Amino acid sequence: MPDSGTCSVPADQRVGALLHAVADMAAEYLDHTDDPQTPVTLNPPPSAVYQRVPLVLDGQAVALDELLEHARELMALSVRTGSANFSNQLFSGFDPIAIVGEWIAATINASMYTYEVAPAMTLVEREVIARMGRAAGWDKAEGLFTPGGSLANLMAMLLARQQMFPDVKSKGLGDASPVVFASGEAHYCIERAAVILGLGTRAVVQVPADGFGRMRVDALEHEIAKARARGGLPMMVVATSGTTVLGAYDPIDAIADIAAREKIWLHVDGAYGGSALLSRRRRPLMAGIERADSMTWCAHKMLNVPLSASVILVRQPGLLHQCNAVHAEYLYHADNDAPDLDTGEMSIQCGRRVDALKVWLAWKARGDNGMERLVERKFELASEMRRLVRERERFELLGDPDPVGGGCNTCFVYHHPSLDGLEPAARLRAIDAGTHVLRERVRLRGRVMTNYAPVYGVRAFRHVSANDKATEAELALILDEIEAVGQGLDLRPLASAARL
Ligand SMILES: Cc1ncc(COP(=O)(O)O)c(C=O)c1O
Repeated sequence: MPDSGTCSVPADQRVGALLHAVADMAAEYLDHTDDPQTPVTLNPPPSAVYQRVPLVLDGQAVALDELLEHARELMALSVRTGSANFSNQLFSGFDPIAIVGEWIAATINASMYTYEVAPAMTLVEREVIARMGRAAGWDKAEGLFTPGGSLANLMAMLLARQQMFPDVKSKGLGDASPVVFASGEAHYCIERAAVILGLGTRAVVQVPADGFGRMRVDALEHEIAKARARGGLPMMVVATSGTTVLGAYDPIDAIADIAAREKIWLHVDGAYGGSALLSRRRRPLMAGIERADSMTWCAHKMLNVPLSASVILVRQPGLLHQCNAVHAEYLYHADNDAPDLDTGEMSIQCGRRVDALKVWLAWKARGDNGMERLVERKFELASEMRRLVRERERFELLGDPDPVGGGCNTCFVYHHPSLDGLEPAARLRAIDAGTHVLRERVRLRGRVMTNYAPVYGVRAFRHVSANDKATEAELALILDEIEAVGQGLDLRPLASAARL
């Protein structure tokens, strides 16, 4: 119980003042984030966070002013993912209008299961889904916002399973052994979805990718034939539009030919790169999308909307309901005014957040042209980054996507001077381990934050052009930082690292 005398819950008349104070705090935070001199991260160890903020919920009520100070500290200790120097994940930047959408959604606190409790927001969601569906060339698309791209991909797998095994909801899978095909570059959530569905990871066949990270269609045909020969039932193929590491786009049209011939559900995981559909110049990367059965698309990745804003889109209406409804009469009353507008039974959730509003507001504010410019800018920045990498003597670009129409990632390694003269295998081992060492040093300096990932088995830097506010200065700073932290280091001992 709160101590008497301290008031942690604001009285009605204080709500306005509180929210104004928070608005000022948020504005100050974002202004700072926009300043390229502000460190991206303070890299606080847990002890520092505990030292600066009394995190333990010790039962004491805390006065509002003090509480706001704690919130301010927590913000200061957070990574500035909106900074133009943050290229560590597939999202960065921010859209103030979309942030407002998040606030409003929390303020009204609707739950998206029934129309009666979320009338306006249900229609907002319908419109956003319809617009995204039209971008994919699907006039009657249906869909839902989900808590993240991973969950959207899980729902796609559920749809594929439902199509192949119409009785699965009542009878389960029995002895059937469905098989899912995705490239070796696909996101790990595809495997995890197979785990959640009880199919097991071995149900997911990793189809080899080409030198640009795109699924090899000949290999897909080969793997399907192999699966059939051993009694497996090809159920789903996942084409990725914008792979997590290389940013590659699988050839949807050619994959669709095979999926149609083999009668396999075709899902496009456009969680990251699906926004290419909004740029006339980049849309060809997803040629054939109109033939897919479902698609995942996250607005929180390339469209600057706060997490999460993910969508599962389905070309044929009715399937989500067929797949997920189990008829809970106490919530979904058949005699509702508008039962067809209840989305709850299409979902695998019950209560559901209003994630559509922030996307709707952002889209309304920018219009189609603004959305296109936003997406296009990110692709342009990625090309710019690759040019900078190519120009620097000691940097080497990997899986360069420019010849085939690039995505938004730039993967590269740094040939540290201390490795000159090493024989090739030893050099590769040292580069692999050295990437980790250099990246950690860069991260700890806090000026920029960019990640690393294995590229064809070797750890490499992965830069994501996720922030449209970045300029050549921010892009160059990443390379400068890597060179700077490497100065005076001897990475040769890393050649004996046993990882490769
Ligand atoms: C290609 C791809 N699919 C799915 C996901 C999962 O999205 P989320 O993090 O929103 O669950 C990611 C995340 O990076 C991704 O890159």
